[in-house]
Amino acid sequence: MRTVDIIMDKRNGKELSREALSFLIRGYVAGEIPAYQIAAWAMAVFFQGMSTEETAALTEVMLQSGGRFDWSGIAGPFVDKHSTGGVGDKTSLIVAPLVASLGIKVPMMSGRALGHTGGTLDKLEAIPGYRTGLQEEEMREILCKTGYAMTSQTAAMVPADRLLYALRDVTGTVESIPLITASILAKKAAEGANALVLDVKYGSGAFMQDPAAAEALAHSLVTTGAALGMRIIALLTNMDEPLGTRVGNFLEVEESLDCLEGTGAEDLMEISLELAARMILLGGKAQDPAEGRRRCEAALASGKPRQFFLDNIRCQGGDPEQFLAMRGKYRSEFTADIRASQGTFIARIDARKIGHAGISLGVGRDHTEDPVSPTAGVQFHKKRGDPVSPGDRIMTVWAKDAASLQAALPELQDAVEYAATPPAPRQLVLKELTVLSNHTKEQN
Ligand code: URA
Repeated sequence: MRTVDIIMDKRNGKELSREALSFLIRGYVAGEIPAYQIAAWAMAVFFQGMSTEETAALTEVMLQSGGRFDWSGIAGPFVDKHSTGGVGDKTSLIVAPLVASLGIKVPMMSGRALGHTGGTLDKLEAIPGYRTGLQEEEMREILCKTGYAMTSQTAAMVPADRLLYALRDVTGTVESIPLITASILAKKAAEGANALVLDVKYGSGAFMQDPAAAEALAHSLVTTGAALGMRIIALLTNMDEPLGTRVGNFLEVEESLDCLEGTGAEDLMEISLELAARMILLGGKAQDPAEGRRRCEAALASGKPRQFFLDNIRCQGGDPEQFLAMRGKYRSEFTADIRASQGTFIARIDARKIGHAGISLGVGRDHTEDPVSPTAGVQFHKKRGDPVSPGDRIMTVWAKDAASLQAALPELQDAVEYAATPPAPRQLVLKELTVLSNHTKEQN
């Protein structure tokens, strides 16, 4: 087999065999195929796409490049949730303790903030002492104790994805649906989950802004997952505005606890409950999403998920008492308010602009190696649909330093859109996609 022939086949629109894909990926990971040839192949995939079978084969080949968690000996079911990323999206921190409190194990491998989107690991690491670089044995111990464990991707997990993702990032090939699908599913399969709920976001703050593109990604994920024997439900959810009332690392951990205590913002609670309900369904603890949701609501009312959350903090190296004492106080000293410039209604707070301003504030990062600030962020006092008078406080912001605060203020002000009349209600969950017995079921 010659690499150049495989590249030309894909360039000419041919379906590649599992053997060809294995030859490419193994050769790349072993250092035998140079990055420039893999970049050429990735660009050919970007333009020509891949069939479901090809994407499934690529996922398996990538998965085989590294290790895989083995949870034998622990009682399941094992169900995970993955989000394609957004602004103020802290649903993982809410659904993991919630569904764990109902007897489902959640071995979650998460990512860091990149570009305008936030990262679960950066949020959790804002809790002093919280460790996310867990080894399999520690994951196992924590899963047994608190039902869920949060970790970063270890060096041994899907090394092909780490190499390929870094290459795609600098060769304009990130936005390829089959490459994204294989990247996400290989990591999820490596976690050892039996089933997966995907939160595929669309809107200004999403990776895929256009709902049709997000739906195409969701469709690729559920059909490829089904071809691999994974049980997946995808929800298409709105990311035009930040979820909840806070964006920032420690701020979002605090807000997650508010949700577990029943005082979370409506939009955040709604999406979290819809995701958790489907995790309960896939875990076999409910007959349908409505029953799953009722079980989640009852669990929240019992206070059990809050205790799971605090127990998990202790198990992963933090101190729950210290965390509770820091609540509402752990903020940067560099702070300012954004006030209403006119007296009307808030039509929208643009998620992408808030996410970009968050990079300046220190919430997120432009490059993987940049540090983030635990105490920077934004708290919204008004959101979509709220009436405002000139001078009303819309947001309070905290920045990593004085210069960053000044740099972010214009974009934060610009993120607020006004309207003379209240905006129409927003549909938070646009669509559900899943594959049941080899056909795609779509529900509006
Ligand atoms: N997230 C991933 O994990 N992989 C991609 O390729 C894109 C987003």
